[in-house]
This record gives sequence, structure tokens and C-alpha cells, in this order.
Amino acid sequence: MEAPLGDDVFGDDPTVNRLQARAAEIFGFEAGLLFPSGTQSNLAALMSHCQRGEEVILGMEAHSYRYEAGGVAVLGSIQPQAIANRPDGSLDLAEVEAAIKPDDPHFAKTRLLALENTISGRVIKRNYLEQAIGLAKRRNLATHLDGARICNAAVALKTSVKELCAGFDSVSACLSKGLGAPAGTVLLGNSSLIQNARRARKILGGAMRQAGVIAAAGLYALEHNVERLEEDHRNAEALASGLRGLGLAVEQHTNMVFVQIPPESVSALAEHLKQQEILVLPGARMRLVTHLDVDAAGVERALSAFRAFHGASAPAGRQARSR
Ligand SMILES: Cc1ncc(COP(=O)(O)O)c(C=O)c1O
Repeated sequence: MEAPLGDDVFGDDPTVNRLQARAAEIFGFEAGLLFPSGTQSNLAALMSHCQRGEEVILGMEAHSYRYEAGGVAVLGSIQPQAIANRPDGSLDLAEVEAAIKPDDPHFAKTRLLALENTISGRVIKRNYLEQAIGLAKRRNLATHLDGARICNAAVALKTSVKELCAGFDSVSACLSKGLGAPAGTVLLGNSSLIQNARRARKILGGAMRQAGVIAAAGLYALEHNVERLEEDHRNAEALASGLRGLGLAVEQHTNMVFVQIPPESVSALAEHLKQQEILVLPGARMRLVTHLDVDAAGVERALSAFRAFHGASAPAGRQARSR
């Protein structure tokens, strides 16, 4: 609330400038640019790398492909060439290479390889990223990383975001989500990429005026809330292990827990949890996420709610009612 403000459309909001400079330093890039959301930052990055009619290779599970309303095609006029993600979230690099189009007027020009880390919580390791960046360089492609949750990956790997992001031409990192800011994403790249992204951001309606109020929260998040992500990962582990104890099939990666729920129970369970102020992404593979507002007691509360639903500790007569 006390952040010094200016007009970021003219580039003179001191708090936004401070955040962008600090983020560039932390991530090891020449420049940074604040966006209202990760969706917009990804799209502006892709629009900065690719001209109309050019192509990006990315995973079928990539947020930019699957969960951003097709913006890459709709607003970017960019052709997405999607490749199936492997179970660990990575792309088979032989498949990536085979998808690169020859220089022939029949084909869109392949310009960019876009990866995501973490992807649905799964951490992509540095040696894979190096191979992917190496392939892209050899084949003259630029590289973008959707690092909405890159700090979770760095903390899980006990490395810095700078080391984990080295070699990418652009990285989009969210200040919201695990880091806890109410809004905001920074895009990192070299100065000329960021200059292009500034234009794309204007086209997309993301240039904000006194945006320092958002940047101040983002700066706080970057400086105070990264190391503590380890706590979220530990809480997610405890949640996963408690749910396994109830006989449920559970997968856990960093701060995300996925639980297999019989389809016919999904909405009743989600409603039961909601009544206890536990919000989940409902589905047969229900997603639960830990974050800085969930402590060990919160995990215990979530487990009790699951236990009550499954009637683990309740007599048979009460089981039916609790469902
Ligand atoms: C990997 C990834 N990329 C991008 C986004 C989009 O971020 P936002 O919701 O800020 O638009 C998300 C949101 O969950 C995400 O998980």
C-alpha cells in the first residue's frame, strides 16, 4: 500500500522497475517485464518469438496449449505443434526433432520450442533441459520456459532458478500461486525480446498504470517466499501419505497431490470438502495443492475431512450419511 508509484505504461513506476530489475538479477537475464497473469506472459513471449504463421513445438499437457483457451492460435496466429508428454512431463527429444518442419512453403516455419517446469507439479531436471536447449540451438529454434512454478522446481532440486533457467531465451515465472502474491507474473529475456514483449503486452491489454501495488507484493514474494516452498512440499508429502493410508491411489509431486476418486463420488466429496473450507480441483483425478496458507494443521484438517467422507473411523451406519 505504501509502494512509490508511477505510470508503468510510460515505464516510470519505480516499484515495477525495481521488481523487473530484481527478477532479472535473480533469474540471470538482461531484463524483466511484469504481466498481470501467467497466461498473458506466456502468450506475449510466444508472440515475441514467433511471427504470424510460424510454429511452436510444445507438449499436449502444456498450460499454453491446453489451458489458455487456444490463445496462441486465436490471438497469436501461431501454429501449435503439440507432442505427447511422457509420464515424467518431458517431451521425447527425438519426437521434437522429427516435428521440426523443413524449410518448404508447404509448412509453417518452426521457430520455437516451449517447455514447462514444473509441469503438473513434476520437476524437469537440468540435464534434460540442457539436452533440449542443445537440440533447439542446433536446429536454430528459440526456447521458452513456462516457469509459472519454476521456484518449486528449483527448491525441489536444491538449486537456484538462475541455474535451472540458464540457456532459455525466455522464462515466464508467476509471483502468484506458490509464491503467494495476489497477482503478477514476470517474463525474463534479453532486452530485445523484452522490448518485443512490451509491444505484445500492449496489444493484449496488459500494460497497467500504477502497477507498483502489484509489483510490491511480487517483490516481497520473490524475496521472502521462495525457500519456504520446501514446507509446501513437505505438507504435500504428508497429505499424500495420509491419503494413501486411507487406501486411495495417490500421486504427489512438489506441492501437488492427485487422488483417484471413483467418478460417482467426485461431486459429493468436493462438496463435503468445500463445506470444511477445503477447496480442490474436482475430477476423477482430484487435485489438491498446498501453499503458504496451508500449514501442517491444515493438512490434518483435510485428512480428517477425507476420513469422515470415507467413513474410515465411523461405524457403517454413519458412513452412508456422511456421503
Ligand atoms: C504452468 C502454468 N502456466 C501458466 C499458468 C497461467 O497463469 P495465470 O493463471 O496467472 O494466467 C498456470 C496457472 O495455473 C500454470 O500452472
